[in-house]
Amino acid sequence: MELVYRPRRLRRTAAIRRMVRETVLTPADFIYPMFVAPGKGVRQEVAAMPGVARLSVDLLVEEVKSVWESGVPAVLLFGLPQKKDDTGSEAASPRGAVQQAVRTLKKALPELVVITDVCLCGYTNHGHCGIVHRGEIDNDATLEVLAQVALSHAEAGADLVAPSDMMDGRVGAIRETLDDHGFEMVGILAYAVKYASAFYGPFREAAESAPKTGDRRGYQMDPANAREARREATLDVEEGADLIMVKPALPYLDIISQLAGEFDVPIAAYQVSGEYSMIKAAAAQGWLDETAVMLESLTAIKRAGADLVLTYFAREAANILTKGK
Ligand code: PBG
Repeated sequence: MELVYRPRRLRRTAAIRRMVRETVLTPADFIYPMFVAPGKGVRQEVAAMPGVARLSVDLLVEEVKSVWESGVPAVLLFGLPQKKDDTGSEAASPRGAVQQAVRTLKKALPELVVITDVCLCGYTNHGHCGIVHRGEIDNDATLEVLAQVALSHAEAGADLVAPSDMMDGRVGAIRETLDDHGFEMVGILAYAVKYASAFYGPFREAAESAPKTGDRRGYQMDPANAREARREATLDVEEGADLIMVKPALPYLDIISQLAGEFDVPIAAYQVSGEYSMIKAAAAQGWLDETAVMLESLTAIKRAGADLVLTYFAREAANILTKGK
């Protein structure tokens, strides 16, 4: 038999493989999600997410310095309130943990890209992402509150705000409020395609944001739907999203790939808490090689079409990519 083409010729050595590699990870691909707690000297490890902790602003700054030094250009901040209430009022407070963290980080590391999560679920006593009226989430009443939250983040100095609530019309509402207040250069990273996923389980421990009753299927997307992702992304881009996100990442590579082919804004993908914890747990058992699986999953997400990956592995992966450790 005569084989004219032998794919193995280009796999023979590490140098050849490097030459023909189609997808290359760099630290600039990553955004590191972090949890900010009120108070001082607070460091609470999140049991279900080894290596992740809730930090008060003073400790957060130190940690973010090492994130920045690893080459990761951006962090995404989630806040925890001192007190929860019906409307999540602390979410828009200039004295909130996130707002303080943004001010402190922009002072300590002016070039760092600070992104803030805009949502109410960590701030409401019922744990839903919006205002609840007679057992239902009131979409349009929630928009005004979300816009005020985003505004408070912009006033603190956020570079991008990232609405994760999945209310209809929130990107437009936030854009309008930011523009009205002179923040036309603050961008919006929209959680455009966010599925009602069981992979968020460990995060809800970290952010103390599990809904007290019911679930989020009335506002987050049905995991069975792909065409709907196009509709959601189109809406967010039309309303002014600068970047759009798919979440979770690895179970939804088809969606990332579809959007990357159809939209010309940058695409981000969120490797969520459950994706992270599964790898950590299996590695702790000795069942998987953590570093190899981490890099393979991040490569797969980028290969599918993501320009950016939000991942709890950001610093670890960046250090391996640049220093080999
Ligand atoms: C809040 C929010 C969630 C995540 C990010 N923003 C949880 C949820 O929607 O229940 C999940 C992140 C993760 O699992 O890492 N709306």
